[in-house]
Amino acid sequence: MLFVMERCVMAIEIIATGRAIPPNRVTNDDLAQRLDTSDEWIRSHTGIRARHLADTGIASSDLALEAGKQALAQAIERGMVEEKTPEELALTLDLVIVGTSTQDFHGTPSTACVVQDKLEARNAGAFDVSAACTSFIYGLESAAGLLAVNASRKRALVIGAEVLSRITDWNDRSTCILFGDGAGAVLIEKTAAPSSGPGRRGLLRTVLGSDGSGRESLIVRRGGSRAPFQKGEVVEIPACVEMDGRAVYTFAVKAVTDTIERLLAEEGIGLNDVARIVPHQANARIVAAAGKRLGITDDKFFLNIEEYANTSSASIPIALDELNRSAQIKRGDLVLTIGFGGGLTYGGNLIIW
Ligand code: UT7
Repeated sequence: MLFVMERCVMAIEIIATGRAIPPNRVTNDDLAQRLDTSDEWIRSHTGIRARHLADTGIASSDLALEAGKQALAQAIERGMVEEKTPEELALTLDLVIVGTSTQDFHGTPSTACVVQDKLEARNAGAFDVSAACTSFIYGLESAAGLLAVNASRKRALVIGAEVLSRITDWNDRSTCILFGDGAGAVLIEKTAAPSSGPGRRGLLRTVLGSDGSGRESLIVRRGGSRAPFQKGEVVEIPACVEMDGRAVYTFAVKAVTDTIERLLAEEGIGLNDVARIVPHQANARIVAAAGKRLGITDDKFFLNIEEYANTSSASIPIALDELNRSAQIKRGDLVLTIGFGGGLTYGGNLIIW
């Protein structure tokens, strides 16, 4: 009962954002020099022109840490918190959650624990969320629920971070052209603002979905408990993403349309109420096809896939940070996010910025 009451009363707001993009920019033309592909094919089939790849030795936690630090610094710069330094602010974090499919370590420790330690967020619980490209949506809802359920919890850092280049088969042109590395972070806080009724703010509603029967469509087959590496085994490519692109494409278009329709219907609002739709950046054609089905104009969707390619769980928080820092979304705007990907999973959030 306490949970229900508190969740209705107190808003869970995004108060700051950050991102980390590796400096090494690899264009389609760069890939075409060593693969049977072309800039024209990649752009016309995906909307991608470039991706940024992490240097050797950089792991997901390094990018996650940088994005998280940027979010903490922004909260201080913009006067969103009373704390005066990122170190002080880190001590007020109750949770550090990292969505990733490319954990620093296989199984344990979690990538979130590495970030929590390096941030010196000594009062925070930390864990990873594994929902492939939907991890940020799942992570945000998990964080909001955990803040709402306990009166003493107030702040959480939710991060999506990936070094997908490490689980990519660079000889497979049907997948390697799609992915990039990066991280995005949001700092969320339980505030005194209402979450319903007049003046409501923050995370209004989330849809979470899955269809595990499609798990083989996007899969890293080796290295887990199902198919562990054997002693003495020689492998050319230890663990990499395999994808049935057509199957995922069909699923994704339906996931985007269904998620938008469901969020709007459950909230009792129309498309005109939404300032910006921030989809997972997997393929510009998926977004265009969903937009066509629903009669949504292209400018409603925010796309940055051209520069970063598909960064899986990082793509939505990177996009939110770009929009936030460039003032393309402002306080009071209604933002709709949509994630979809391996699992198969999908979901979305409605957020008053
Ligand atoms: O974030 C996770 C979610 N993932 C996704 O959302 C991905 C969803 N799927 C897709 O975005 C698309 O299916 C792809 C971009 C992966 C592929 O596009 P497509 O239009 O479905 O191409 P296709 O796989 O049907 O391949 C068409 C042709 C094939 O040649 P043939 O058999 O027609 O001669 C491929 O061999 O294009 C060829 N092809 C390429 N050609 C040049 C495939 N990849 C490439 C390439 N360069 N990189």
